[in-house]
Amino acid sequence: MTFVGTGYLGATYAVCFAELGYEVLGVDVDVARIAALSAGAVPFHEPGLDEMLRRNLAAGRLRFTTSYRETADFGDVHFICVGTPQRPGGTGADLSYVEAAVTGLARHLTRRVLIVGKSTVPVGTAEWIEQLVAKHTDPELGIEVAWSPEFLQEGFAVEDVLRPNRIVAGLRSEWADDMLHAAHLGILELAAAEGREVPVVVTDFATAELVKVAANAFLATKISFINAMAEVCEVAGGDVTQLARAIGYDPRIGNRFLQAGVGFGGGCLPKDIRAFQARAQELGAGEALRFLHEVDLINQRRRSKVLQLAAELLGCPPGPAGPRFGDARIAVLGATFKPRSDDVRDSPALAIAAALARSGADVHVYDPEGMANAVLVQPDLNFAESLDDAVRDAELVCVLTEWPQFRTADPVRLGRLAATRLVIDGRNCLDAAAWSAAGWQYRGLGGRAATPAPPGRTAGNRAAPDHDSPAGRPAIPRPATRSVAAR
Ligand code: UDX
Repeated sequence: MTFVGTGYLGATYAVCFAELGYEVLGVDVDVARIAALSAGAVPFHEPGLDEMLRRNLAAGRLRFTTSYRETADFGDVHFICVGTPQRPGGTGADLSYVEAAVTGLARHLTRRVLIVGKSTVPVGTAEWIEQLVAKHTDPELGIEVAWSPEFLQEGFAVEDVLRPNRIVAGLRSEWADDMLHAAHLGILELAAAEGREVPVVVTDFATAELVKVAANAFLATKISFINAMAEVCEVAGGDVTQLARAIGYDPRIGNRFLQAGVGFGGGCLPKDIRAFQARAQELGAGEALRFLHEVDLINQRRRSKVLQLAAELLGCPPGPAGPRFGDARIAVLGATFKPRSDDVRDSPALAIAAALARSGADVHVYDPEGMANAVLVQPDLNFAESLDDAVRDAELVCVLTEWPQFRTADPVRLGRLAATRLVIDGRNCLDAAAWSAAGWQYRGLGGRAATPAPPGRTAGNRAAPDHDSPAGRPAIPRPATRSVAAR
């Protein structure tokens, strides 16, 4: 099989499918990227991928190329994994890479193969690809298209590819079904060997395409929901972390993706919800997704909230165009859009750092993995060598990505380095009580209290229990008598 496009998605898939035992060719037009991968270097940070790449290169199951001719000769199943960024000057998806990949490949195809779309695309793209293939190949070959979206999360990508929680397949024929099944046999066999089952949803093109954007829209909505609650908590005197914990115990709600903070970023959620709205609008269903505009606005407002909090804590004047920070030295901890990744695309942390700098602050950024990418995007910011260097002499510390290194940093030690002990916890990830005890004025997002809430009966942030169906629940053991008055 081949994977066309060797970004986060394609490179991870190529390596993992080689690991599963398939003969794999990774394809890209980026010569430097292909040279790096061929030499055993993953051009981005993804835990566990480097070692797996080198192992499979050495085993001879995995190769990389820039040649579409070689790709066409090699593959029986071709996965299209190129990027679909936001269109410049618009909100829709830019499909130029998809078009280039499909036509580049199709022109060289000489036998019956299956082309499988994996990129996140507007609904209708699979049909358009069928037309492109029909235009550039001999119809006698009977080349087919299928759609199989992926759901990998950066930082957990290897695990998500090898052990997906579902496989979705948009298909037109039994032949395509057989081919796609064969291409996923490695995953299904691994699951069987581990006593798991991977649900497979076989469906039409439109549904398969929509599944991906619907999933991302749901996740973005869940995050913005809790961030909207954060806004309300801030004015009502509540604590959104306690609120999230309390509602998350309800298994219908669940406690994952309910962390209030500076909001979502990355190469997927922000652009996907915008492209989804743009496509729905084109199809005449714009109203159905109007709420996603609110989801986006809530997310953007969280970034401004950090500036507002910083101004409050530092006593800076508001000013007509936002606060002015008058050279105040601010440490920004975090540049990536989330931990375990070096990706800074649409990163809330980096956007906030840049906004603080634009408002006059002397910003010093530190990130354990994202520095090289951050410098490329925001070359005018100051980048510190270490966490300590960033915090040294800072009048305010903003924790904007929840790297373990920041979560577990000693507030007493950092307090000795900082000029003033003011901290904004943009991810509600710090031990608020410990930071307060070390003399820091602590501000979380969503009114997270610096002093712990009154002791409850259950400690910790336990996951909500999964309930069986009511019928299956065991009977409740009842004491003979129970009396409140007896206390
Ligand atoms: C996402 C989807 O999760 C994945 O299924 C899809 O294939 C690609 O897009 P990813 O972009 O890697 O994956 O990141 P994800 O883990 O979803 O986080 C997205 C953003 O939301 C991050 O900025 C993260 O910090 C933020 N987030 C996540 C919150 O603010 N609160 C949460 O509770 C969870």
